[in-house]
Amino acid sequence: MTTVLPTPVVRPARTQHHAPAMPGSPAPTRALADRWGRVADDLRISLIDKCNLRCTYCMPAEGMAWLQKDRLLTAEEAVRIADLGVRIFGVRDVRFTGGEPLVRHDLADIIAGVRRLHPEIPISITTNGIGLDKRIDALVDAGLTRVNVSLDTVDREAFKELTRRDRLPQVIKGLEAAKAAGLEPVKVNAVLMRGINDTGAADLLEWCVTRGYQLRFIEQMPLDADHTWAKENLVSGAEVRARLSERFDLSPDPVPRGSAPAQLWEVRPKGASASSPALGKVGVIASVTESFCAACSRTRITADGKVRSCLFSNEETDLLSVMRSGASDEEICAVWAGAMMLKPRAYGSDEVTLNDPEYVQPERTMSAIGG
Ligand code: GTP
Ligand code: 5AD
Ligand code: SF4
Repeated sequence: MTTVLPTPVVRPARTQHHAPAMPGSPAPTRALADRWGRVADDLRISLIDKCNLRCTYCMPAEGMAWLQKDRLLTAEEAVRIADLGVRIFGVRDVRFTGGEPLVRHDLADIIAGVRRLHPEIPISITTNGIGLDKRIDALVDAGLTRVNVSLDTVDREAFKELTRRDRLPQVIKGLEAAKAAGLEPVKVNAVLMRGINDTGAADLLEWCVTRGYQLRFIEQMPLDADHTWAKENLVSGAEVRARLSERFDLSPDPVPRGSAPAQLWEVRPKGASASSPALGKVGVIASVTESFCAACSRTRITADGKVRSCLFSNEETDLLSVMRSGASDEEICAVWAGAMMLKPRAYGSDEVTLNDPEYVQPERTMSAIGG
């Protein structure tokens, strides 16, 4: 099957949905605006490029060159960036990612540092869940509000093949711990890989709705270390919906989507009345076939402190060196805002889309960008 990728349409900024300012939060003095009418208020900070899994759509089996420790953001630097984002640019959401953020032993200190400065801001992590059961209490005490856990399959053999590690039981323990800690909603991210877990979509959804996790399927993006991504192998959002519809009835979620990457669907048993209670919701993040670039509200900082205005950028702006040179908050913010002003229209470019033969995959893998 060949998937035709549409050219993303850039909608004017007024069609973005921005939540009203949070009560108690100071009024931002500037905005992270770009040339396409978008404003970024969703901050994602990668804390480390290392991970204890080796998912085929992200990392190579071996031979990954890690960042030197002294090039990683320190806890203080990560907190300072988050603080500037919230205080100066009106960021409404701070997410810590990796690699695997739990690999950072000071993750709770970082969260506590942001929480101390901003009691109201949602602080979340995207994690593979390994070891989360042992850390969750400390993270919640520090001020963590939500977690997203990556889990592509609940079939142990398929998990082993996909992640190159036999660690499914630990991930499940982590998920259970997040639920027990009362973090809501607990979201599960799944990437379907043809020939490995693509036929297991409905099983995974059944497993998630039974346990109260909100599952989202993410289309595989060309951000893998092995550069094996091929449009022909892509399990598209449309295919995911078709597979799920064999077992469930899906109806569009009535809640407006805003700039969220996931389109949500209510899930009901096959043949159930539309007025009956839903079993839960499922999300489809169709980053490739149904671009949401026009509503993008994200600003990313890599583990080595670079501003990455788009997931697919080939250009980055070094904020860490500026910080380490002793720059003032004002100077740091000027560099950050300048980098975001140049945010490309879509998929890392103003003209080329993933569909074009000239498209060049960025050098950094998802593990170094942070998802
Ligand atoms: P919440 O729904 O608020 O939890 O946030 P989220 O969906 O942004 O969280 P998460 O970190 O779990 O992101 C899920 C996945 O969506 C990411 O890992 C990416 O694969 C994809 N995604 C998130 N943001 C972008 C984006 O700006 N561009 C693209 N192309 N994909 C994105
Ligand atoms: N395409 C889509 N999603 C990916 N992730 C990692 N690499 C890719 C890729 N190439 C997902 C992980 C995790 C999140 C951080 O990004 O599954 O949920
Ligand atoms: Fe935003 Fe770039 Fe993702 Fe498009 S590809 S949604 S512009 S980060």
